[in-house]
Amino acid sequence: MKFFIDTADIQEIRHANERGWVDGVTTNPSLVAKVGRPMREVIKEICQTVSGPVSAEVLSTAKDDMYKEGMELAKIHDNVVVKIPMTEDGLVVVKKFKAEGIRTNVTLVFSPLQALLVAKAGGTMVSPFVGRLDDISTPGMDLIHQIKTIYDNYDFSTEILVASIRHNVHILESAMMGADIVTVPFKVMQNMIPHPLTDKGLDIFLKDAQKIVK
Ligand code: E4P
Repeated sequence: MKFFIDTADIQEIRHANERGWVDGVTTNPSLVAKVGRPMREVIKEICQTVSGPVSAEVLSTAKDDMYKEGMELAKIHDNVVVKIPMTEDGLVVVKKFKAEGIRTNVTLVFSPLQALLVAKAGGTMVSPFVGRLDDISTPGMDLIHQIKTIYDNYDFSTEILVASIRHNVHILESAMMGADIVTVPFKVMQNMIPHPLTDKGLDIFLKDAQKIVK
């Protein structure tokens, strides 16, 4: 399973990258706004920092505008994956980009049938938002199971990129279900490290190390 980091914060990306947690990066307009820098500049810097795919989202919604904008984003760096919203116009653009060899990530996916349409249009990645479904009392991980079943049934090559991850259980279940990618906020990645028995065990080893005969 590939690990992407869900942030536009270059410090977080560098930090996670040093620890081997970054196979790619996803950004969205909210994450880019949060860092208070021009989008092109941020995307370029991220691409120079990591070696995997970097999702950069179009800000327009009409198909011709999305196409032009996506083309400009794709020119920033070979690793840019154009992020397109799950709309009818969005699917038209995904199909066009597929024919032109430009990779896409279709975002804001909340149903298995939306994901089926993404695969039919030739999306490189599909981003189902599990946390936002949980927020409205709809089990987000059920959606991943449904998409995985559909994609396996028909051998679709679109990669399932589990998005809107809020905690470790989302990551664990994604791995158990065989999702291709998880995109994880930095804080959640860090939460995967500690275990009380690791701390306790290390404490005992360090104490016993003092007793080793020299
Ligand atoms: C995915 O690519 C999105 O950037 C992201 O996962 C959205 O997550 P949120 O629901 O925490 O905003």
